[in-house]
Amino acid sequence: MDRPDPNLGKIVVAEDVLQERIRELGKEITADYSERAPLLVGVLKGAFMFMSDLSRAIERPVEFDFMAVSSYGSATRTSGVVRILKDLDLDLTERDVIVVEDIVDSGLTLAYLRRNLAARNPRSLEVCALLVKDGLQTTDLDLRYVGFTIPPEFVVGYGLDVAERYRNLPAVYEYTGSSPQ
Ligand code: IMP
Ligand code: MG
Repeated sequence: MDRPDPNLGKIVVAEDVLQERIRELGKEITADYSERAPLLVGVLKGAFMFMSDLSRAIERPVEFDFMAVSSYGSATRTSGVVRILKDLDLDLTERDVIVVEDIVDSGLTLAYLRRNLAARNPRSLEVCALLVKDGLQTTDLDLRYVGFTIPPEFVVGYGLDVAERYRNLPAVYEYTGSSPQ
């Protein structure tokens, strides 16, 4: 890009800060799972970049699976009804599952996912969310690992998009363009 994008505002989390925190999260998970090989469940598409960097910061055997859900659009935001677009390939029975999420806004998506995955009898189920928007969650989400708490504004970059754009930015930016959803 030769010119600055007019739809991007200030940097919310810079690349070096992001990477340093992910290394710390990896260390924590490495210590917490010293006897176990966790199964990382990434929530597509937003979490793909975080999952990639986080997994490389975990010095344990890990396994991967992915799930895709529809969160934004239609009435899902207010109803809390989330549609599974792609389900997991693996069976969760007796697995130590860590759900890897890009961002928690209202928390409805995660609340649904947690209920859904808990019903599949994992041995343990924890959540690692890179970003949590301050003060918007209506239910107690029990987030075991959190990268950053950020102000409740719309952000893009590092996996997060607006209409599929900006996912490849290495940092998290405020989005100042129109109609992000
Ligand atoms: P929630 O159900 O309101 O917590 O929304 C969660 C999902 O909405 C996230 O997993 C993202 O896919 C998307 N989302 C929420 N806030 C943002 C944002 O600021 N930028 C990009 N996507 C977002
Ligand atoms: Mg998501």
